[in-house]
Amino acid sequence: MDTPFSTLLRAASRDAHTEVETSTFMSDLLGGRLCVDAFTRYTEQLWFVYRALEDGAHALRDDPVAGPFIRPELMRLAELEGDLAHLRGPGWRSGLTALPATAAYAARIEECARTWPAGYVAHHYTRYLGDLSGGQIVRDRAEKMWGFARRGDGVRFYVFEGIPNPAAFKRRYRELLDGVRADEVEKQRIVAECKRAYALNVGVFRALEGEFPLSA
Ligand code: HEM
Repeated sequence: MDTPFSTLLRAASRDAHTEVETSTFMSDLLGGRLCVDAFTRYTEQLWFVYRALEDGAHALRDDPVAGPFIRPELMRLAELEGDLAHLRGPGWRSGLTALPATAAYAARIEECARTWPAGYVAHHYTRYLGDLSGGQIVRDRAEKMWGFARRGDGVRFYVFEGIPNPAAFKRRYRELLDGVRADEVEKQRIVAECKRAYALNVGVFRALEGEFPLSA
């Protein structure tokens, strides 16, 4: 019996997931060792990543491979913009800069969106399924540490108003992965791209760690 593709993808990226989850930046952030500026800077980086993902989503809506994954209730850019306005003030856009690692990550998403829809799916999965899962832990910690209103301004990125039942949504998403239009070779390429997506996230975390070192 063949292993469902969603199971394969999850198993193949388990080690990479452990790496992002236990990265110094994430551990310091969630461990309460960093200030809200670090959270804001991280949120800014996410804006570049989701702009790339969601510009790609508009272009791929009718694509036979990537199209079924694209759902309006997942879109995060408006929420990120609201969070940034709250965190940085109305002029948030003027000071916004992508770290080189973030620019590289966004560029890879854009490249996949333009040239390889199945590769785009790997990026889509890595971000949105993560946001629906571990993202909720990040939200909870952020609310407690920096006093954001529960599910309110500053953490709306983590709140999926259009997804009242994330477990059911994730189940359906995994069914989509299981039915993805790709042969075995292409599925292996998607797995490799997913690992690359994790590595790109690690790159962003390392860069943030460099900007917010702990003063021992
Ligand atoms: C401290 C940070 C994080 C924590 C605590 C965390 C925690 C978790 C947990 C508990 C799950 C399992 C949820 C379930 O079984 O339904 C999960 C799934 C996932 N996470 Fe994370 N995560 C973190 C960061 C990340 C990051 C940075 C990414 C990607 C960039 C990511 C990507 C994913 C993905 C893709 C899944 C879905 C795996 C699957 O079921 O196929 N996570 N995370």
